[in-house]
Amino acid sequence: MLVEKADRLDLTDENCRSLLLEQCRLKQGEVWHDPEGRHVVGCGDATDSLFVKSLFEDTRATLAVHDPPYNLVAFAMKSVDEYINWCKKWVENTSGILAEHASMYVWLGADQKKHFQPLPQFMLMMAETDYVSRSFITMRNQRGYGTQKNWMAVRQELLCYTWGNPEFEVQYTDIPKILRGYYKEVQGRRSENLERSRSETIRPGNVWVDIQQVFYRMHENVAGCYAQKPLKAIARIILASTTSGDTVTDFFAHSGTTLIACEQNNRKCVTLDIDPIFAELTIRRLEHYRETGKVGWQSEQPFKHNMTTSIAGI
Ligand SMILES: C[S@@+](CC[C@H](N)C(=O)[O-])C[C@H]1O[C@@H](n2cnc3c(N)ncnc32)[C@H](O)[C@@H]1O
Repeated sequence: MLVEKADRLDLTDENCRSLLLEQCRLKQGEVWHDPEGRHVVGCGDATDSLFVKSLFEDTRATLAVHDPPYNLVAFAMKSVDEYINWCKKWVENTSGILAEHASMYVWLGADQKKHFQPLPQFMLMMAETDYVSRSFITMRNQRGYGTQKNWMAVRQELLCYTWGNPEFEVQYTDIPKILRGYYKEVQGRRSENLERSRSETIRPGNVWVDIQQVFYRMHENVAGCYAQKPLKAIARIILASTTSGDTVTDFFAHSGTTLIACEQNNRKCVTLDIDPIFAELTIRRLEHYRETGKVGWQSEQPFKHNMTTSIAGI
């Protein structure tokens, strides 16, 4: 029975959770240092400034990519004001560990049944900080909800802020340019837009339509992670806003997507999650990638082997 539940990594089930917690190497307040010296994974609270600072030592991040719980599920019992006060704390903690020139991206939901909270409140809170607003990106999901009586909800919002004058490297999608006919005179010769362009493919702009949402058949899927972001999206952010060897941070690791994107793109990652199970999954995902070259487990689950052993030992 427990094995069956564990197979689905049903983290709302207390029995399943306590069995998995036995397999986690970090308890709250503890830190894992990558034996290869590149990354750090902490198990702790993003609003705890001392804990966050302790993960960085002398390092400063040039990029933060945060994907907090959205006040829809995890914070259902909290008012939007309480939620925003909570956000303020981890935003301040981010300010404490960012380099002089840095970017911060925040994924945030908007509840269409509750006046799109907490997105507008978050934006207003950020307007009171030293961050400069740079872009409001929308990523399109392939599957949505509410198709019969409303517009299908397929968007994910991503806010981009900076301070100082951080790097920005233009990115391109794999989508070919197909529109022709924008003519311009260049050095006395009439030229057409495709001839003038730097790439055969289009730029993502601030509406990303070319990224597949993670589902159980994809290699990068991590079973049990209900809110996994696609690696391609995180890699795009990292490649645009950092250079090789930079440190990137993510205070809400979950499945460890930011860590894997850093490993693949020669960046260092300092990441944390309040839940020992997600901190463990983040570490396991990196180890699995290094051992096998695989970025996730598809529909297999990462604890399976240990779970079976543990059950057998009962
Ligand atoms: C939306 S998920 C992040 C998904 C992640 N971007 C990915 O691709 O897997 C949010 C995560 O934040 C963690 N979390 C919630 N409150 C936290 C806190 N106060 N400090 C650190 N992590 C927290 C949750 O345990 C959850 O794993």
